[in-house]
Amino acid sequence: MKGAFIINGTAETYTFGPADTMLSVLRKNGHAEVKSGCGKGECGICIVLLDGKPVNSCQVLAASVIGREITTVMGIGNFRNLNPIQEAFVEAGGVQCGYCTPAKVVVTYSLLRENPDPSDADVRNALDGNICRCTGYVKILDSVKLAAKKLSGGTDD
Ligand code: FES
Ligand code: FES
Repeated sequence: MKGAFIINGTAETYTFGPADTMLSVLRKNGHAEVKSGCGKGECGICIVLLDGKPVNSCQVLAASVIGREITTVMGIGNFRNLNPIQEAFVEAGGVQCGYCTPAKVVVTYSLLRENPDPSDADVRNALDGNICRCTGYVKILDSVKLAAKKLSGGTDD
């Protein structure tokens, strides 16, 4: 089957099978920025935004979201044009091996759009289900708080 999606603001048409997940379809079509982990909806490594809301893309059938908007980390910022959230993850040390970082940036983007000044508990809640195998959640929390400061126009030092 074929289906068109709006990926990071651009219409893209892909061919896929009825049982293919959004994660596999994205990765097969060059969106390697969406990482693959457990495949069971448990690690959160594969999170993208579906119509602006975070979802585990390994749990979404591509056929069920034809025509909808999907945002990956590359739709938030890229190597040439980092989003302040990505800058904050680099500056505050939230990028360790980096494998979980794309999903963390996506979740942070969604959180800060809805809640520009989150408490530590808000951040922990938002990132719940988005596992970092490197541990070190303190720096990830610091990164989200720094991102909030940057986006609100506060100082980042
Ligand atoms: Fe999707 Fe783990 S790969 S939740
Ligand atoms: Fe390594 Fe999170 S930075 S898995």
